[in-house]
Amino acid sequence: MRVLVVGATGFVGSRLVEALVTAGHEVVAFSRSASRSDFTEEVEIFEGDLGDPASLEGLCDGIDVAYYLIHSLTAKNFAELDRTYARRFRERASAAGVDRVVYLSGISGDERNLSPHLASRREVESVLESGSFDLTVLRAAIIIGAGSASFRIVDDLTDRLPVMMVPKWVRTPCQPIGVDDAVAYLVGVLDVEETRGGIYDIGAETVWSYEALLKLTAEEKGKRIRIVPVPVMSPELSSHWLRLTTDVQYAIARPLVESMRNPVTVDPDRDLQAVVPIEQTPVEEAVRRALAES
Ligand SMILES: NC(=O)c1ccc[n+]([C@@H]2O[C@H](COP(=O)([O-])OP(=O)(O)OC[C@H]3O[C@@H](n4cnc5c(N)ncnc54)[C@H](OP(=O)(O)O)[C@@H]3O)[C@@H](O)[C@H]2O)c1
Repeated sequence: MRVLVVGATGFVGSRLVEALVTAGHEVVAFSRSASRSDFTEEVEIFEGDLGDPASLEGLCDGIDVAYYLIHSLTAKNFAELDRTYARRFRERASAAGVDRVVYLSGISGDERNLSPHLASRREVESVLESGSFDLTVLRAAIIIGAGSASFRIVDDLTDRLPVMMVPKWVRTPCQPIGVDDAVAYLVGVLDVEETRGGIYDIGAETVWSYEALLKLTAEEKGKRIRIVPVPVMSPELSSHWLRLTTDVQYAIARPLVESMRNPVTVDPDRDLQAVVPIEQTPVEEAVRRALAES
């Protein structure tokens, strides 16, 4: 199949491109910096900017399947940009007759109380849903791997003080997934027809909390940390706390941390593992791999 990866140079996209090549697909890698990537030579490069319609001419020509892996979290108006970009991509993919689109979104837990970041991820789902292609949505919580903004926050936190005063969201249940498993699911859906038009959750086998994940990451680095959740932390104080505790660009870290108030676990009725079974990587192993690669 001829497969387009939109957001091919990102944390997930770069790994997905290589996995698709290994699976025998013809791959087109698209992003603003695609020509500066070091993909193997069989990967076709398409450099362009979803913010610049002229640069998208021919993007979807001859494409059977496209993966959509775009977010604009560094921008203040990320929701507006992500809506515009998704519409622009939807129009081009529909006009070119793309058969399937796979979008990697976020698990939200409580759908009535979405953070701005998760609300925007949902909005992109509904924008893509009205395209003339079959849409498959995979929703993940934190994806563990070197280069993941959300895992870097966890990693950075464990490098700071041995005793941490943190917002009470550290107790929020979360079901992370290692990036290798996320990529295996993304590739795997192509072989399972029933995933066309479906919305699925992906995660590791076990439910964690951010607190447990912080402790695990610290242990893997040979450190011991004590976590003291503070019941009330004002948004202003949270912002200062965030600037002190992570080197992840503040504009990215803030919406991600805001989303951490929502429990993010796999809904058993939507678990992709039931439809596309893969050999799941334990979170401990995923953290080990991520730290070894960072
Ligand atoms: N990382 C996680 O923990 C996690 C968890 C759940 C869901 N997800 C979802 O997974 C998807 C991928 O996330 P990620 O962590 O891989 O993101 P990422 O590393 O930030 O990658 C984003 C990609 O989009 C490209 N891009 C951004 N703006 C663009 C534009 N205007 N035109 C063309 N390309 C553009 C970037 O390349 P250039 O900057 O070079 O253009 C990059 O290749 C997102 O939908 C995200 O919501 C991620």
